[in-house]
Amino acid sequence: MPNAPQTRSTTSKSSDPGLTKEGRARMTVEDGVTLLMRDHRTVEDLFKAYEDAKSNARRKAEIYRTIASELRVHMQLEEEIFYPASREFVDEQDTVNEAEVEHASAKDLMAQLDGMSPDDPYYDAKVKVLQEMIDHHVEEEESEYFPEVRRSAMDLKAVGDQMATRKSELTGQTEKAPRAH
Ligand SMILES: [Fe+2]
Ligand SMILES: [Fe+2]
Repeated sequence: MPNAPQTRSTTSKSSDPGLTKEGRARMTVEDGVTLLMRDHRTVEDLFKAYEDAKSNARRKAEIYRTIASELRVHMQLEEEIFYPASREFVDEQDTVNEAEVEHASAKDLMAQLDGMSPDDPYYDAKVKVLQEMIDHHVEEEESEYFPEVRRSAMDLKAVGDQMATRKSELTGQTEKAPRAH
């Protein structure tokens, strides 16, 4: 018999003591904002690794390619799933519109970088500007957009589930247990 205090009357599956840590992780559907914020941290770390690569052109090109593929998948998840699903839960439509325009600018810059050699004198400058654009964009998402959505009635677990599934389709990697067929 559980003996939980009355103040916490709901017991979630994730706190079931009968499951291993891994078992709980597989059963837990992650909230969509948490998934997106984890991507943000990954990309920030990659930009730092780029800075640390200094004059190693081959390494920088490799890191840039990882940054670009992480960003493209992340932006696709937001554009296909998160932005449309959250639009009705934000007061100012410009919050979403500006985010979409910022994505378009980042994609333009990435299209330029994709065709450049890391030895090009403008390569570092373009990566730096991309980093600054993404920093600004992430700051706006995390300080305004995401908190507003979190305060709303939006079902963040459902959207997290959809994005995790889509992400594994796009990357070929599984972030959560595949659905049973
Ligand atoms: Fe984002
Ligand atoms: Fe975004």
